[in-house]
Amino acid sequence: MKLRYILVAIVTALVTFGLFALRDNMSDRKAEAHTTVFKLTDLTEQTTDPAEWGKNFPRQYDSYRRTVDMERTRYGGSEADPGAIGAEDVHKTVSNIERDPRLKAMWNGYAFAIDFREDRGHAYMLHDQRETDRVLKKPQVGACLHCHASITVAYREAGIAAGAPGTLDEPLLSDNGQAQLMKGFPIISAMPYEEATKTVEHPVTCLDCHDPQSNQLRITRPGLLNGLIALANSTEPVPHLESVEKWRTGNREQPYDPNRLASRQELRSLVCAQCHVEYYCASKETLFFPWHNGLKVEQIEAVYDGHTFPDGSPFLDFKHKQSGAPAYKAQHPEFETWSQGVHARAGVSCADCHMPYIREGAMKVSDHHVRSPLLNDAKACQVCHRDSAEELVQRVHIIQDRTAALMSRALDAVVALINETEAAMAAGAADEQLAAARDFQKKAQWRVDFVNAENSMGFHAPQEAARILGEAIDYAQQGRLSLAMLGLPAAGAAKQVAAAK
Ligand code: HEC
Ligand code: HEC
Ligand code: HEC
Ligand code: HEC
Ligand code: HEC
Repeated sequence: MKLRYILVAIVTALVTFGLFALRDNMSDRKAEAHTTVFKLTDLTEQTTDPAEWGKNFPRQYDSYRRTVDMERTRYGGSEADPGAIGAEDVHKTVSNIERDPRLKAMWNGYAFAIDFREDRGHAYMLHDQRETDRVLKKPQVGACLHCHASITVAYREAGIAAGAPGTLDEPLLSDNGQAQLMKGFPIISAMPYEEATKTVEHPVTCLDCHDPQSNQLRITRPGLLNGLIALANSTEPVPHLESVEKWRTGNREQPYDPNRLASRQELRSLVCAQCHVEYYCASKETLFFPWHNGLKVEQIEAVYDGHTFPDGSPFLDFKHKQSGAPAYKAQHPEFETWSQGVHARAGVSCADCHMPYIREGAMKVSDHHVRSPLLNDAKACQVCHRDSAEELVQRVHIIQDRTAALMSRALDAVVALINETEAAMAAGAADEQLAAARDFQKKAQWRVDFVNAENSMGFHAPQEAARILGEAIDYAQQGRLSLAMLGLPAAGAAKQVAAAK
C-alpha cells in the first residue's frame, strides 16, 4: 500500500516537473517569438544603413542580403551576362534588346534601344542605374532615384533647406515630416542625375518600408502617395483596395492616405507599389503615376493622351525614328497588372508570394530575399495551393508560354506596321495620309510594351495580359490596313509586306 503511495507521489512529481519544464520552454519560445526587436541599437528616421537595422533584426537582414543571388527561371529570375563578364563589366545582366531585336526596332529613337536588361535583385538597383547606358549616354534626372535608392532622408534634407518646417528627427509621417518630404521631392527630381545620385548611398533599405520606431509597414514614396490620391479620386472600382473604396464613401475632407487608412494586408502590396508601377519620369515634369482614370492599360493611355507638359507641348515619351509615330514607353506595371488578376481579387498580396514566411525555430520570419517564387520551390504558393511544387511551376509555365507566344505575334505585327509606314513615307505619302497608321502604331506598341515590361510574363493576370495583346495585334493590323488602303504605287511597301510574312 505504502509503496503504491510513494510510487504515485514520485510519478506525480516527475510529471509535474516535466510539465513545468515544458511550460518554461514554451514560454521562452513564445517570448522569443514576441521579441522580434532585440533593441541593440536605436533606429532613427535617419538610419538608412541596413547593417544598423541588421543588429536588431539579424534574420531579416540576412535574407535581405541574399538579394545579390543570381539565378534564372524560364522567363524571370536574374542572370549575369556571360558575354559581359569582362574586365570592368562583371555586373551586367542579360540584354533584352539583344535577345529580341524586335524590341530594339520598337524603341528606335528612345534610350531603351540603347540599353535594356533583365532585372535582378534589390541589392543591385542603385548600381545598375548608375551603370546603364541609358544614364551614361543620355542626360537623366534625379527623379530616377525615387525607386532605385533609399532616398527619403535626402528628400527631407532638400525640403528643409528649401524652407520646410521642422527637423529630420521628427517622424516621417508627422505633418512636418510629410511637408519636408513633399517639398524636397520635386527639387531632387529636377536635379541632373549625376548631382542627385550623390545625395544617396544605399539601394532600397529597411527605412523605405518600415517605421524605425514601431517597425510597422509604411509608405515613404511621394510618387505612390500622389498616385493613390489620384486613383482614389477616380471612380474606377478597386475592390482589392478596400481602404480606397471606404475612403470614397466618407466625407473626403482629407485626401486618401495609405499611412492612415490602408490595412496591413494592403500595405503588404503597397510597399512594392512604391516602385513596381508604370510612371512618367523625365526632364519635362516631376515623376508621376498616371492613375487618374484607374489602373488598366487603356485608362493609363487616356491619361497620357489627354496630358500636356507644363511647357504646353503634348505628352509624349518619344517620336519613333523610323515611322515618325508618337510613342509611349511602358515600365514594369506589376502593381497595375496584379490589380486585374484573381489573386488580388482574393486578397493575395505581393509579399504573400514574393516574401513568404519562413520558420526559424519558433519564429515566423518574412523572407526578405525578395525574388521569383519559382526559385523557392513554389513554397509560397503551397500555403494556399495543395499541389506539388512541380505542378505549380508547370501551371506558371503554361500561362507564361501562352503569353510569350501571343506577345511574339503582337511584336511581329507592330514591326511590320513600322516597316510599312517607313516604306509608305519613302513612296511619298503625306503626313495626313499616315496619321491613322501612326496612331495605330502608338496604340499597338503601348499595349505590347505594357505586357513586355511587366515582369511576370502574364502570370499576375493571365487573361488581362491576353486581352491586351489581342488588342495590340488588332491595332497593328488595322494600321497596316489603313496603309494598304492608301493604294500607293509603292514597290517598297509591297516588298515590306512580303518580307513581313
Ligand atoms: C500569386 C502569387 C504572386 C503575387 C500575388 C504576385 N506575384 Fe509577382 N510573380 C509571381 C510569379 C509566379 C512570377 C513569375 C516568376 C518567374 O517567371 O520566375 C512573378 C514575377 C514577378 C516579378 C519578376 C520576377 C523576376 O524574377 O524577374 C516581379 C518584379 C514581381 N513579380 C513583382 C510583384 C509585385 C510588385 C506584386 C504585387 C503588386 C506581385 N509580384 C504579386 C507570383 C506572384
Ligand atoms: C524602392 C523601389 C522598390 C521597392 C519598394 C520594391 N522594389 Fe522590387 N525592384 C526594384 C528595382 C529597381 C529592381 C531591379 C533591380 C535591378 O535590376 O538592378 C527590383 C527587382 C525586383 C525583383 C526581381 C528580382 C530578381 O532577382 O530578378 C522582384 C521579384 C521584386 N523586385 C519584387 C518586389 C516586391 C515583391 C516588393 C515589395 C515587397 C518590391 N520589389 C519592392 C525596386 C523596388
Ligand atoms: C517608379 C519607380 C521607378 C523609377 C522612377 C525608375 N525606375 Fe528603374 N526600375 C524600377 C523597377 C521596379 C525596376 C525593376 C523591374 C524592371 O526591370 O522592369 C527597374 C529597373 C531598372 C533598370 C534595370 C533593368 C533595365 O531596364 O536595364 C535600370 C537600368 C533602370 N531601372 C534605370 C532607370 C532610369 C535611368 C530611370 C530614370 C529615367 C529609372 N530607372 C526610373 C523602378 C523605377
Ligand atoms: C520593400 C519593402 C521592405 C523592405 C525594404 C524591408 N522590409 Fe521588412 N517587411 C516587409 C514586409 C512586407 C513585411 C511583412 C510585414 C507584415 O506582414 O506585417 C516585413 C516584415 C518585417 C519584420 C517583422 C517580422 C517578419 O519577419 O515578418 C521585420 C522585423 C522586418 N521586416 C525587418 C526588416 C529589416 C531589418 C529590413 C532591412 C534589412 C527590412 N525589413 C526591409 C517589407 C520590407
Ligand atoms: C494566400 C493564398 C494564395 C497564394 C499564396 C497563392 N495563391 Fe494562387 N490562388 C489563390 C486563390 C484564392 C485563387 C483563386 C481561385 C479560387 O478562388 O478558386 C488562386 C488562383 C490561382 C490560379 C488560377 C487563376 C489564374 O490566375 O489563372 C493559379 C494558376 C494559381 N493560383 C497559382 C499560384 C501560384 C503559382 C502561386 C505561387 C507563386 C500562388 N498561386 C499563390 C490563392 C493563393
